[in-house]
Amino acid sequence: MSADVGFAVVGLGMGRHHCRAVQMAPGARLVAVCDVDEARLQPAARDFACRAYTDFDALLADPEVQVVNIATPSGLHAQMGIQAAAAGKHLIVEKPADIVPARIDALMDAGRRHGVRIGGIFQSRLDPLNLRIRQAIQAGRLGSIYGVHGHLPWYRLQDYYEGTHGSWKGTWGMDGGGSLMNQGVHTVDLLQWLVGRVESVMGMFGIFGHQIEAEDQTCALLRFANGAIGTLYTTTACYPGYDQQITIYGARGSVLKQEGLLRGWKMMDDPDGTEEQELLSFYGEKKAGTGSSDPMAVSFDGHTQIICDMVAAVREGRDPMIGLDSARHAVEIITAIYESGRTGREVKVGVN
Ligand SMILES: NC(=O)c1ccc[n+]([C@@H]2O[C@H](COP(=O)([O-])OP(=O)(O)OC[C@H]3O[C@@H](n4cnc5c(N)ncnc54)[C@H](O)[C@@H]3O)[C@@H](O)[C@H]2O)c1
Repeated sequence: MSADVGFAVVGLGMGRHHCRAVQMAPGARLVAVCDVDEARLQPAARDFACRAYTDFDALLADPEVQVVNIATPSGLHAQMGIQAAAAGKHLIVEKPADIVPARIDALMDAGRRHGVRIGGIFQSRLDPLNLRIRQAIQAGRLGSIYGVHGHLPWYRLQDYYEGTHGSWKGTWGMDGGGSLMNQGVHTVDLLQWLVGRVESVMGMFGIFGHQIEAEDQTCALLRFANGAIGTLYTTTACYPGYDQQITIYGARGSVLKQEGLLRGWKMMDDPDGTEEQELLSFYGEKKAGTGSSDPMAVSFDGHTQIICDMVAAVREGRDPMIGLDSARHAVEIITAIYESGRTGREVKVGVN
């Protein structure tokens, strides 16, 4: 057996990005791929020169597989993760960790019982610009944070929600919602990771431009534990699809960003704007495509870092850097927004 940590990827839509990321990560080796769809499975096994399984149980019986990356429909994550943990496999679970907070708890519990490490995926947390903003907030440079706003005005055609690999999207049972749970979960996680926990929400949602079950537009008010208030907007219905925007307003400074680009950085402690100019020239240039209108235009660089971290976590017997305990809060916030939209009431996060 190789000294490299053996990975398998299950679910070969986004999972193909995982395969490339495993191939790029030093110390990781792609042992196998798994998908119930042969039309996706066989090309992936060929392209990545690894074993192919249609049956998840058979994959779990493969002794060379030490880590399973779960990239199946979101409503299957906890169930498949619990099965893999019972088979002694470490896990990397795509976002959202699952669509129901209690199921994420059950998955974390299974990890503890079976002594396996479980990591989540929120690649935006590894973006150097986001890290820089978080550092500034944690150092108190923005002063008290008053306003926190996240907008994700994306666009998906109807056929995104149709066919073999589309029909689970925008459903309550498998996607746990629509534009908010599927696309918006990264924005929700980023807001809470940058600024802190959300205590309560008020939300509205509906179906505007697609034939789907759940929603393609949501709007919410957020009350943060640190006293800030904010707004969140997500859609997949509005042509042509603009970039994610995040603004954080504080008593001593404010930051504006658009997808990966910095658009504003004003701090009282940078009165002549020297730092502002440096950061705008470094983080203000467009570098890559975004997912605003193309679901596959996501960088897998963050995924590579997450794989590298899992290799180290397995070798060092430690938890991965993005634990499910922190990945869970975004799902709690989202389910609270849906609950508020249904009831018309402000909903406390973590009680539904
Ligand atoms: N991190 C990101 O930026 C990012 C981007 C896109 C998708 N995702 C996440 O990845 C997951 C998959 O999304 P997608 O868009 O690739 O969906 P998809 O439907 O294109 O792919 C899912 C795959 O899982 C397979 N599958 C379903 N049930 C299975 C089972 N029991 N055993 C084996 N294979 C099974 C399907 O055949 C399909 O090929 C979702 O949770 C989604 O939220 C994350």
